[in-house]
Amino acid sequence: MDRVDSVGYWIAREHWGRGIATRALALLLGEVAARPLHARVARTNIGSILVLERNGFRVTHYQHVPADDRFPACEEAVLRLD
Ligand SMILES: CC(C)(COP(=O)(O)OP(=O)(O)OC[C@H]1O[C@@H](n2cnc3c(N)ncnc32)[C@H](O)[C@@H]1OP(=O)(O)O)[C@@H](O)C(=O)NCCC(=O)NCCS
Repeated sequence: MDRVDSVGYWIAREHWGRGIATRALALLLGEVAARPLHARVARTNIGSILVLERNGFRVTHYQHVPADDRFPACEEAVLRLD
């Protein structure tokens, strides 16, 4: 995304809160050697920010993202794993 290596994920609603995203990302990071890796998350998406931080990502900054045809405008956290 935006010419940098990025991660993203989506877990089916009925499986949320069981550690699946945290574990899946840990397994991915063991397979994918590319660093740095980036992620962008709505600032209000506390669960996703936790998933990333538990895997070593750190917030570098926040940015305003204007609305597009899929999503409303929001404040995003930008995270990075070195
Ligand atoms: C975000 C998402 C991937 C998390 O998946 P998951 O498998 O439920 O994540 P995990 O269980 O590994 O970890 C989530 C943690 O955040 C916590 N959490 C979730 N929402 C929270 C909130 N609003 N406030 C505080 N903690 C929250 C959970 O309790 C869990 O912590 P715990 O292990 O201490 O209980 C999932 O909700 C999802 O697919 N959402 C829709 C798509 C999305 O938002 N993708 C990410 C876009 S960047």
